[in-house]
Amino acid sequence: MDPEKALRDVKKAVEEHHRWMSRCLPMIASENVTSPAVRDMLPTDFAHRYAEGAPHERLYEGCEYIDEIEITCVELAKELFDAEHANVQPTSGVVANLAALTALTEPGDKVAALRISDGGHISHREISAPGVRGLEVLTLPFDAEEMEIDVDEALKLIETEEPEVVILGASLFLFPHPVAEISDAVKTYDGKVIYDGAHVLGLIAGGTFQDPLREGADVLTGSTHKTLPGPQGGIILCGKELADAVDEAVFPGLVSNHHLHHVAGLAVALAEFMIHGEEYAKATVENARKLGEALYEEGLEVLCPHKGFTRSHQVAVDVRKHGGGARVSERLEKANIICNKNLLPWDDESESDDPSGIRLGTQELTRLGMGPSEMEFVAELIADVVLERRSLEAVREDVAELREEFQEVEYGLGSGVGAHEWPRIADW
Ligand SMILES: Cc1ncc(COP(=O)(O)O)c(C=O)c1O
Repeated sequence: MDPEKALRDVKKAVEEHHRWMSRCLPMIASENVTSPAVRDMLPTDFAHRYAEGAPHERLYEGCEYIDEIEITCVELAKELFDAEHANVQPTSGVVANLAALTALTEPGDKVAALRISDGGHISHREISAPGVRGLEVLTLPFDAEEMEIDVDEALKLIETEEPEVVILGASLFLFPHPVAEISDAVKTYDGKVIYDGAHVLGLIAGGTFQDPLREGADVLTGSTHKTLPGPQGGIILCGKELADAVDEAVFPGLVSNHHLHHVAGLAVALAEFMIHGEEYAKATVENARKLGEALYEEGLEVLCPHKGFTRSHQVAVDVRKHGGGARVSERLEKANIICNKNLLPWDDESESDDPSGIRLGTQELTRLGMGPSEMEFVAELIADVVLERRSLEAVREDVAELREEFQEVEYGLGSGVGAHEWPRIADW
């Protein structure tokens, strides 16, 4: 390969990606856009450095300032989530889950978790973290009509099987999970609850969803870049009694060097969230509920109309009648509405290439400053595509026009770079 050409191609692809994103409706529920202040942390020299171990107990020299930053980051996380202990070193949500399972289980133990079709994440199932740890995975019963864990059946399973850990939290996550009931049940035999808050971490911190640690979860894990709009990474929050086990599972268990520039970015994101998070989380959920209602009024099969569609940042739509999740999400992408196809409870997991549904998230549109009236328009544009009422080109033009007004990041600090702009720091 010609390196000069490769350089030109990569640069062009990066430029085009940013141009595309700035004209799209980004609605993938697991993503977000960081503020200019957070982005300012990412090209710092911390991106080049190692800081293995805990602050002030590092294996390498040169850590004076990252020690200070990591301690601040941990203190901010503890305060924001009202947790006794925080570890900000996992490099992703999956790593955080694997570390939590490593801390709380021995190979051969049992965990209970949701099926992927019911909203569970791969890292809750044998295919990922529990399999890596050598755990047996039991399936938590789910009520597809209510899109909630079936509490009575789950309690029966827990009583009979006594899994060492129950994993709550989900990827398709419309309504809070029954943390208190499940935590009371596992406490009768010293079991533990891990609540995977990857998706809803910002909603938890903003006080709009549920408060798993107060409701009885032993460990709260998460990604730091979904409804909590920090740089990509993972986090673990827990009580003091589990602190050593969690820290050891992370380092030296699963992470040697963590990503120091992301820790700096996370510290900024957490501080910003203390200032703006409550308002942002509330607006995100209001927008999701409005989007659900507006899509339903447009005639789409939005899940759970009898429950106000959602209490999170997500809306799920069954699009089987319109060609299925794969076709619909691809058509939406052509109209510059970016979302993902999603398994729904009635899907077989082997159908993940073409599941019944699509999942839509409002966390990034909210961050761009959109509110309920924009959600109505967004629903109309989505319905135009799904119901094939207008051409994809016509919808794409409307999307670009709508985006013209929404180019900055709200609910965050800093200025000087647009939400989807490539902030160049070098000429090459
Ligand atoms: C519930 C849940 N847990 C964990 C993850 C994995 O997070 P990460 O991509 O940060 O590893 C996801 C990803 O979307 C998720 O939905």
